[in-house]
Amino acid sequence: MSSLPALAITGSTGQLGGAVARILADAGVAQRLLVRDHSRAPQLPGAEAVLVNYSDTTFTQEALAGAKTLFFVSAAEAEDRLQQHFNVVDAAAAAGVEHMVYTSFFGAAPDATFTLGRDHYATEEHIRNSGMAYTFLRDNFYIDFFAALAGEDGVIRGPAGSGTVAAVTRADVAEVAAVVLQNPSQHRNRTYSLTGPEELTLGEVAEILSAETGQQVRYHNETVDEAYESRASYSAPPWQLDAWVSTYTAIANGELSGTTTDVFDITGHRPRSLREFLQDEGQN
Ligand SMILES: NC(=O)c1ccc[n+]([C@@H]2O[C@H](COP(=O)([O-])OP(=O)(O)OC[C@H]3O[C@@H](n4cnc5c(N)ncnc54)[C@H](OP(=O)(O)O)[C@@H]3O)[C@@H](O)[C@H]2O)c1
Repeated sequence: MSSLPALAITGSTGQLGGAVARILADAGVAQRLLVRDHSRAPQLPGAEAVLVNYSDTTFTQEALAGAKTLFFVSAAEAEDRLQQHFNVVDAAAAAGVEHMVYTSFFGAAPDATFTLGRDHYATEEHIRNSGMAYTFLRDNFYIDFFAALAGEDGVIRGPAGSGTVAAVTRADVAEVAAVVLQNPSQHRNRTYSLTGPEELTLGEVAEILSAETGQQVRYHNETVDEAYESRASYSAPPWQLDAWVSTYTAIANGELSGTTTDVFDITGHRPRSLREFLQDEGQN
């Protein structure tokens, strides 16, 4: 039997998983950090790092021996990301993990406009069919990401039209995850849609960025053809270009609209707004 902590966390070398691991460590919770490079694992009280490889199901299963709860942060964008996700789910089920908490995407569906939302739905389905209990955290776009959206010329470009987005901070998602992970049975087989406190058009995002950062930011509503053309210089593969452009068309189609009370209901506090996020950043 493994003597490693029964709570396993992925993504702790990254922003979201790192924030979750820090909250858990501060709360005195023992955790097993699944990392792909020991030297980059955060040094936290009660945390033990174990190597993992999403491409190797047997290796990942060994890393999860004795784990009961797994926080699975979706992998970095890659052409084979869905297969990597399936490998981790299969490894967790084979290792005897009882409950998986997965960071999915707002409105995940087989026909989601945001192409990666389809992969999140397929991952959810794979988890549902695995027999493990689950909690899905369907995160809207990160406010942190919108704060860095404008190009060097201060222009946010994309075919989002006048659609709105109810973006949420990573910090709020991390707090939700930490609450769920400390008491998973209370959140068994639940799906939460995590949003900020308001829905904004990208024009409104640009206005808030301008007011709070002092940099003049404006929104340019590209056509879909313009969106592909303006991103062509990155020489990205077609699946990645589709993901980038559909970030905006999903907003245009209203699929990122609508606030929920899930962050409040789980953490007991109102989610942070874009303006509050930028003001906090300005103080740090
Ligand atoms: N809702 C949104 O707006 C939004 C925006 C961006 C991303 N996302 C999703 O949310 C996830 C977390 O966001 P974040 O900001 O915390 O990202 P991040 O800072 O890039 O962290 C990603 C974490 O996942 C780990 N990881 C990624 N691919 C892996 C793999 N194949 N095998 C093992 N570990 C892997 C990384 O490990 P390494 O340090 O070893 O790379 C890192 O610890 C992202 O991975 C992405 O799927 C959502």
